[in-house]
Amino acid sequence: MFLGSANRDPRFWEYPEKFDVNRRTIGQIAFGNGIHVCIGQMIARLEAECLLAALFAGASSLELAGEPRYRLMNQLRTLDVLPLRIKR
Ligand code: HEM
Repeated sequence: MFLGSANRDPRFWEYPEKFDVNRRTIGQIAFGNGIHVCIGQMIARLEAECLLAALFAGASSLELAGEPRYRLMNQLRTLDVLPLRIKR
């Protein structure tokens, strides 16, 4: 199964390529599903929350500073490089 592809299925998601923090995420399978659902997802969510809070603390803007580079991988869609510029 291709998890990264399922999370961008245009038959299920409206504007699947858009990064929308307000998106209703019921149906997403970034952490898998069923009996083998990711057991570490709580810690992963907490880490992401801590990282983003620290990154944005006092920031006025965040913008792309170069071309993102995706990792070549069959199952997941993931970035190798995401150059960002933060203005304080
Ligand atoms: C953003 C971070 C993470 C993502 C996107 C992610 C994603 C996933 C996915 C998609 C699965 C299901 C794989 C399948 O169906 O075969 C999975 C399983 C699993 N994940 Fe994660 N994971 C993350 C972080 C973590 C962390 C931090 C831990 C441990 C501290 C963890 C531990 C596990 C384990 C043990 C399983 C296997 C559960 C089972 O088979 O019963 N993951 N993860």
